[in-house]
Amino acid sequence: MTQNRLTIRRPDDWHLHLRDGAMLDAVLPETTRHFGRALIMPNLVPPVVSGDDAKRYRERIVSAVPGDAQFEPLMTLYLTEATQAEDVVAAHRAGLIHAVKLYPAGATTNSDSGVKSMDRVTGVLEQMAEAGVPLCVHGEVTDASIDIFDREAVFIDRVLNPLRERVPKLRVVMEHVTTRDGVQYVLGAGDSMAATITTHHLIINRNHLLVGGIRPHYYCLPIAKREEHRLALREAACSGDQRFFLGTDSAPHLQHLKENACGCAGVFNASNTLSCLAHVFEEEQALDRLEAFASLNGPRFYGLEPNPQSVTLVRQSQAVVYPAEIETSDGPVTVFDPGFDLYWAVH
Ligand code: NCD
Ligand code: ZN
Repeated sequence: MTQNRLTIRRPDDWHLHLRDGAMLDAVLPETTRHFGRALIMPNLVPPVVSGDDAKRYRERIVSAVPGDAQFEPLMTLYLTEATQAEDVVAAHRAGLIHAVKLYPAGATTNSDSGVKSMDRVTGVLEQMAEAGVPLCVHGEVTDASIDIFDREAVFIDRVLNPLRERVPKLRVVMEHVTTRDGVQYVLGAGDSMAATITTHHLIINRNHLLVGGIRPHYYCLPIAKREEHRLALREAACSGDQRFFLGTDSAPHLQHLKENACGCAGVFNASNTLSCLAHVFEEEQALDRLEAFASLNGPRFYGLEPNPQSVTLVRQSQAVVYPAEIETSDGPVTVFDPGFDLYWAVH
């Protein structure tokens, strides 16, 4: 008998870009409709670097939450070579921030203030390890001689593994893991290590991006890889292993900045992520593990309780219709197109 109903704890999104101003107003309802909490990425311009910045950004998000929604933004700080360990630890102790984000300088959208030399941040990382502050990493090297499709695997060898040997007590999340290499590294690393997986990397490979015309709305960083890597991500997400959990990496950019001679990196998937995930987990005969991936494993890693509320997914006979784009006062943002009809509706 095919299952057509699934009730799970209300999910959280452990990697989300909300931006600010008009964009924040437009995209936030797409997340608060389904998610209880989200870990908010700090790559604004200028970035969220201090406890004070995080406090003010949190207030702007809270005031943009639509009236009837219950939503808690979980803040992060952007690690720079000037970050003060005392500020990080105090903000964490106060419950204001839940992680610090490492962007190698130049690795992705708005990462110019990122870290150039890991030696310069080792002191901060040691104090974070002592205080139990997790480090979220954008795991790609930026060396111009390294092929874009190899940047995650090389990051593991050159940066992540040496870092974990140097600061073994540090709790690390490899954000938006996109390769079999990344999955295997996490599996071999024990409980201090976890990884988030995005919605789109479970669905598209690099052919979707490049075959039959370039699809700018599938361009994101880390870039989608070969099919064998997508299959490894599906296996990890659907395994129920507590080290893997959902981070959508929903990253809105105005449509004209993506459909551009030099298009921005980022996929906006907040609107239809849950329907996409139910589709993927059903295909993998793992609907019974969707709750672990979307609602349980993340809070466990971050030392929080799962959300008390629940959501019910219902498999309809008619396709669920999502808007192709979201309007902002500066122009539209294109919603992720999984390339197939979605039948799982969120109630
Ligand atoms: C993100 C963004 O637009 O801020 N882009 C992306 O392609 N994922 C940055 C990031 O998470 O790398
Ligand atoms: Zn991101």
